[in-house]
Amino acid sequence: MTVLTSSRLRYEPFADAHFDGLHAMNRDPDVMRYLLGRPETPDETRAMIARVRTRWAEWGYSWWALLDRDSGEVVGAGGIQHLRLDRAAPHEIGWRLRREHWGKGYATEAAVTMADHAFAVLDAPRLCAIRHPDNTASQRVMERLGMRYVGLEPCDGMEVALHVLPRAAWLARA
Ligand SMILES: CC(C)(COP(=O)(O)OP(=O)(O)OC[C@H]1O[C@@H](n2cnc3c(N)ncnc32)[C@H](O)[C@@H]1OP(=O)(O)O)[C@@H](O)C(=O)NCCC(=O)NCCS
Repeated sequence: MTVLTSSRLRYEPFADAHFDGLHAMNRDPDVMRYLLGRPETPDETRAMIARVRTRWAEWGYSWWALLDRDSGEVVGAGGIQHLRLDRAAPHEIGWRLRREHWGKGYATEAAVTMADHAFAVLDAPRLCAIRHPDNTASQRVMERLGMRYVGLEPCDGMEVALHVLPRAAWLARA
């Protein structure tokens, strides 16, 4: 399993040791507003960690806990998976942060590091990201990453905004 680092963050594949930090994030209604739409229960967080561990074993990539390199605190999570969790679908990048760590640039720092990993190591032809149409904070992360807005798409019974970053655009930026 792949551990990554960037200037302020350490990226550890989800493990049971991250439960407290991940659940503190996922039980926060502000964090979950555009995701589940309600706080996650402890059992849901445990089940999510277990699912992610299975994907790491099967795919060799999935979600990382984002840790402050100095304190070791879990400040958020970021991941690379596939749209609709279908391995034949394009790679998808995602992020979320504990509420007290919004506005510090951690999501963008993680997005850049994960995009580098997706293109350089996983050989992704392009990266997609989806968001609730009203989630402007996440839209700004997508824009800072250099993603292009494609439009609204149906996904699991709702409409989501789709953004795309082709490999060539990422390499041109680098
Ligand atoms: C989406 C989400 C991760 C964005 O978090 P964020 O803190 O706004 O994004 P970043 O970590 O990239 O921080 C960027 C902000 O930090 C500021 N900042 C402060 N210090 C900074 C630094 N050292 N470096 C970079 N930016 C810094 C930037 O100016 C920017 O502020 P702005 O958006 O007002 O212009 C956060 O809103 C969240 O967790 N939401 C709930 C979960 C969610 O919706 N996830 C996305 C699903 S699609």
